Amino acid sequence: MAAILELKDVDAHYGGTQALFGVNCAVEAGAVTTLLGANGAGKTSTLRAICGMVRRTGEIRFDGHRIDGKSTEDIVRMGIAHVPEGRGTFTNLTVQENLDLAAHARRDRALVGEDAQRVFGYFPRLKERLRQQAGTLSGGEQQMLAIARSLMMRPRLMLLDEPSFGLAPLVVLEIFQIMQRINREDGVSIFLIEQNAAMALDLAHDAYLVETGRIVMSGKAADLRDDDAIRRTYLGH
Ligand SMILES: Nc1ncnc2c1ncn2[C@@H]1O[C@H](COP(=O)(O)OP(=O)(O)OP(=O)(O)O)[C@@H](O)[C@H]1O
Ligand SMILES: [Mg+2]
Repeated sequence: MAAILELKDVDAHYGGTQALFGVNCAVEAGAVTTLLGANGAGKTSTLRAICGMVRRTGEIRFDGHRIDGKSTEDIVRMGIAHVPEGRGTFTNLTVQENLDLAAHARRDRALVGEDAQRVFGYFPRLKERLRQQAGTLSGGEQQMLAIARSLMMRPRLMLLDEPSFGLAPLVVLEIFQIMQRINREDGVSIFLIEQNAAMALDLAHDAYLVETGRIVMSGKAADLRDDDAIRRTYLGH
């Protein structure tokens, strides 16, 4: 399988602070890949490096094309959707307005209606709340809106930063099931950042572990799930 996303020797810096050290990783086309790691390990920085939101060096390829010199806007237009930590919806706008804004950047306007129907298929609860202010949605609904917004870009690759954060287990399960459908039914490749290692390893095909800005383990998700050190540290059994 060809990689849709590839990072080679990627460093990232915030001012004088280095957050990533020679990161190598890949997402296979059509697959779900997870990046696990503790607080402060460099998970969010990895997504920011891909999106051009932090100063980075090294090679980053999307679909074989270098994107490490491109702007965030161009990277999004190429088909990479980023659902950031903290969700990034416009809390003062309604659900409908949030979705309209997300679709606004697209060139293929004719397909927007079709995509909206697909999004409502995944998230019927959002359809019932189109006129509700995003800031008044429940935490789970806000996460759904954030994912829905990114789907309105018709991405080929989704970067998700801790979609389970702060949500009750049943809501997390629902969101993971929807991510699985997005991957299987729409063929969207997914790069998933998670602290909820058990669920992420169940969903993902491939997995990486990052510690203090370095990839320290990689392999099939099923193999990492069975690894003793991973089990003790990240799965708690
Ligand atoms: N804007 C910033 N300025 C300076 N240092 C930063 C900035 N953002 C992150 N860092 C540092 O970079 C390192 C990696 O942070 P990052 O946010 O990538 O971690 P993370 O794995 O996403 O953690 P968490 O699970 O807590 O979200 C940390 O040491 C952090 O303090
Ligand atoms: Mg983070």
